[in-house]
Amino acid sequence: MVADVEKGKTVPAGGDLAAKINHLKKEKNAIILAHYYQVPEIQDIADFVGDSLQLSQKAAETGAGVIVFAGVHFMAETAKILSPDKKVLLPDLEAGCSLADSCPPVDFKRFIDAHPGYRVVSYINCSAAVKTLSDVICTSSNAKTIVESFPRDEKLIFAPDKNLGSYINGQTGRNMVLWDGSCHVHNQLSDERVIQLKAENPDAKLIAHPECRGPVLALADFIGSTAALLEYTKKDTHQRYIVATEGGIVHQMQKASPGKEFIVVPSDETCSCNDCPFMKMNTLEKLYLCLKNETPEILLDRDVIERARLPIVRMLEISKAANLIR
Ligand code: 13P
Ligand code: SF4
Repeated sequence: MVADVEKGKTVPAGGDLAAKINHLKKEKNAIILAHYYQVPEIQDIADFVGDSLQLSQKAAETGAGVIVFAGVHFMAETAKILSPDKKVLLPDLEAGCSLADSCPPVDFKRFIDAHPGYRVVSYINCSAAVKTLSDVICTSSNAKTIVESFPRDEKLIFAPDKNLGSYINGQTGRNMVLWDGSCHVHNQLSDERVIQLKAENPDAKLIAHPECRGPVLALADFIGSTAALLEYTKKDTHQRYIVATEGGIVHQMQKASPGKEFIVVPSDETCSCNDCPFMKMNTLEKLYLCLKNETPEILLDRDVIERARLPIVRMLEISKAANLIR
């Protein structure tokens, strides 16, 4: 990684960089997939920007030979699992995820073994190894549908996000056993801060990602995945929103609704933003270098790919049948 950054001495500047990336993309038959939490300049150069479900579908269906995944490690891993014969690149291999890290596979296996007869639903924000231990994967945009695809009396484990799991328990009336994990970015958003922002902005609606804690979700006018939050702000007639998720999503909200105002719930008193440090590790410079040098590349054992693929494909099939994706 350091070696790549070192090579950054030869990185062209500004608009030149965007032009070079576009040139390399054509030359190498590459596609750039970006998550909504990426910095604006990456979102603007990407071929596709989306939430986790949309991105995994794109990764499964693309005809490109090279996928540059502007997101975090588990997302690029998912792309590799779905397109094992393609070269999958991640601009910074250190771009991990605190939620995925909160579920070490060895401990999770022990947890599953302690619950005989339970089926396992895992949020896509987990490692490939955890995926191999799961019956089906879900994202925040299809979690309710995935859980409801099981008979009502089926005993279920939900991992790794306890906040999303608890929200889906409430939505479905199920009593899934929850793994005690969370995303540090969403988990630190406080209900006190949200209450204060609501008092200061009485005309603003609160929209929240289900990775937030229950007390924050209880205050929300709308709860959904990044793509669902974006759609809501496009269709809704309100003018001002308090946004309880990572701040990167505001770039697309502002582009789609230039007249509206979006107030990000800050992570602490010292800033007005809420950035995921892992998502923000990717920069346009690193993206250029990774496309140029075709590294860092995501590599996985064939056996892991095959076992992790089944629960992801199951998720895509259930989502298609429910018209959540086409
Ligand atoms: P979605 O974009 O699927 O809502 O996921 C949010 C997230 O935290 C990704 O890391
Ligand atoms: Fe992981 Fe949270 Fe960052 Fe998403 S926002 S990548 S869940 S740490």
